[in-house]
Amino acid sequence: PPVETMLGLDEIEETAQSFLAPRVSNYYSGYSLDGHSAEQNRSSFRKCRLVPRVMRDVTAVRPQTTIFGIPSALPIYISPSSNALLGHPDGELNIVRGAAKTGIVQGVSAAASFPLTEILEEKAKMDEESGNKMGMVYQVYLSRDREKNVEQLQQVVEGGCQALILTVDSNVGDHRQVTEKLKGTRGNAEPGIRMGPLGTEDQWHDSSQNWEDLSFIQQHAPGLPIYLKGVSHIEDVRLAKKHGLAGCILSNHGGRQLDGARTGFDSLRSIYAQDPQLVRDIDLYVDGGCRRGHEVLQALAFGAKGVGLGRPFLWAQAAYGEKGVIRTVRILEKEIATAMQLMGVTELSQIKPDMVECIQEIWK
Ligand code: FNR
Repeated sequence: PPVETMLGLDEIEETAQSFLAPRVSNYYSGYSLDGHSAEQNRSSFRKCRLVPRVMRDVTAVRPQTTIFGIPSALPIYISPSSNALLGHPDGELNIVRGAAKTGIVQGVSAAASFPLTEILEEKAKMDEESGNKMGMVYQVYLSRDREKNVEQLQQVVEGGCQALILTVDSNVGDHRQVTEKLKGTRGNAEPGIRMGPLGTEDQWHDSSQNWEDLSFIQQHAPGLPIYLKGVSHIEDVRLAKKHGLAGCILSNHGGRQLDGARTGFDSLRSIYAQDPQLVRDIDLYVDGGCRRGHEVLQALAFGAKGVGLGRPFLWAQAAYGEKGVIRTVRILEKEIATAMQLMGVTELSQIKPDMVECIQEIWK
């Protein structure tokens, strides 16, 4: 069906699933073990009830904000996810174009299917066309081969990426039964998959990674704000702040790492409940399971600066290339703007915790 007929992110996913090879849709929708975390990501947003304010003039709403220090049209960003090429020959380049044309920030995965140089070239092209600098941040894993990281970080700094995401919830590889059963669907063996700059997946995972390693990353990424991705525990947020990081992304990696790990949204609620000042002192982002505009607002109510979406953009570019990415942003834009109006707010900062009631107890 034509992209203009797509009315929700679920419909775009359905379209992609209807024609993608099972090994590709399995990879995109994949999760670890029983998928409890993946399931809860979706349901944690549904545990809330909105409590709108009424009789306020909401004629002009302003959903613009700043994401990772970069101006953004919306309080959302594209979460770094690997292997977009599996779904579409233009892969991550679709996402560059779509993000540039809609004014949202793209997170580029260390395991992107296109080399960073090609992604940066596309970004430069888009920047020249529009006369604007699109927002791009790069995600790294601490590699066992630090020389690889050095090379990579140099490219990121020189190529004009504006921030760095260090993913720390993947100190060992995922524990994925679903994809284990489909062995051979991942890695270099698969024709058409180009692995990220770190080569084979195993090399990404440095199980010795610890807080001391941060200075190495900081040293090789001068001037770039660093965000730690895959944080759940309040003490780790405090440690991130202590180590001078710009912020944390509360996330369970889309349920693809530790199954049973608390959802990003629940971590945010828990941290906010325990220490609201901490949430004001360091920038927190959330990802995992967000599929609707009002769900983005729920996270903002508890102090998140923005919400990342992963799979929706993989499905979108797979189904419709660049146009799918643009459509996805437009759908979310409409949902966010409408939800703001129905909530009685014109600015994102007006969304307060008293406007979101969560039904279930939070587990601390
Ligand atoms: C991911 N994610 C991810 N995260 C990361 O830091 N580096 C990576 O290379 C990848 N790769 C990746 C591949 C695929 C296929 C998926 C689905 C996800 C995790 C991603 O950034 C994000 O945390 C979750 O996808 C968010 O959940 P939703 O929006 O997909 O529900």
